[in-house]
Amino acid sequence: MNEQAVYIVMLGPPGVGKGTQAKIIAGKLGLIHVSTGDLFRENLDNETDLGKLAASYMNKGELVPDDVTIAMVEERLSREDSARGAVLDGFPRTPFQAEALNELLSHIGGKVNLVPFIQAPNEMIVERLSGRWMSKSGRVYHALHNPPKVKWLDDVDGTELYQREDDKPETVARRIEVYYQQTSPLIDYYQKEGSLVEIDGTQEIEAVTQDLMEAVEKYVRF
Ligand code: AP5
Repeated sequence: MNEQAVYIVMLGPPGVGKGTQAKIIAGKLGLIHVSTGDLFRENLDNETDLGKLAASYMNKGELVPDDVTIAMVEERLSREDSARGAVLDGFPRTPFQAEALNELLSHIGGKVNLVPFIQAPNEMIVERLSGRWMSKSGRVYHALHNPPKVKWLDDVDGTELYQREDDKPETVARRIEVYYQQTSPLIDYYQKEGSLVEIDGTQEIEAVTQDLMEAVEKYVRF
């Protein structure tokens, strides 16, 4: 049994299901789930300076500057609970962030082991984002595809669900543009590194999970 930590990077457009799947596979693999979007939203809830800065970009659909994002991830990956590795969701999002991640992992003796690239057409991701409901603890629902047991209440703690500020149609359109301009170069980047695996994100949630777990079994050694 190899004790090497494992790092999985979920790649794909906004709303394709990265967060939904990252939570499921992190749970199955016993890894932590690190979502930069969730970390920024937690900071915003706690009214930190980082949260306020991040919100000024997020609400416009723009990326938060690389330096603050990288520093936040570095801090998160230095905590004890990340010793076995992590499922990274929403990071890296630019080639600069990808280089920074490689650098960071090389210092702790790790590397990016697998990059599932989840794909779905734009109409589908827009539909998924417009029906998304979130709990304050980060659980994700969809009005049609993954509804809560009781309307607009979280299944686990019963708190009220909310819709994200950046899921408004005009912001979604900008997020998709930003994805194609700034994040999609990572497809080539990780293809060249040999860690990219394409996953069909148009399937139901369970089928996507199954494909992801097959990719993990095939390409990752724990
Ligand atoms: P972030 O929170 O990372 O948003 P995102 O990447 O745009 O991704 P989403 O969370 O919108 O979607 P997802 O792919 O996780 O889909 P989900 O599983 O929720 O980032 C937000 C903002 O923060 C950015 O715009 C930026 O400003 C900033 N930021 C974050 N990281 C950054 C970084 N590294 N650098 C700079 N800035 C950064 O699913 C969507 C919906 O579909 C849900 O309702 C779900 O229930 C449903 N669904 C999921 N899978 C399926 C399925 N298979 N079938 C049917 N429905 C499904």
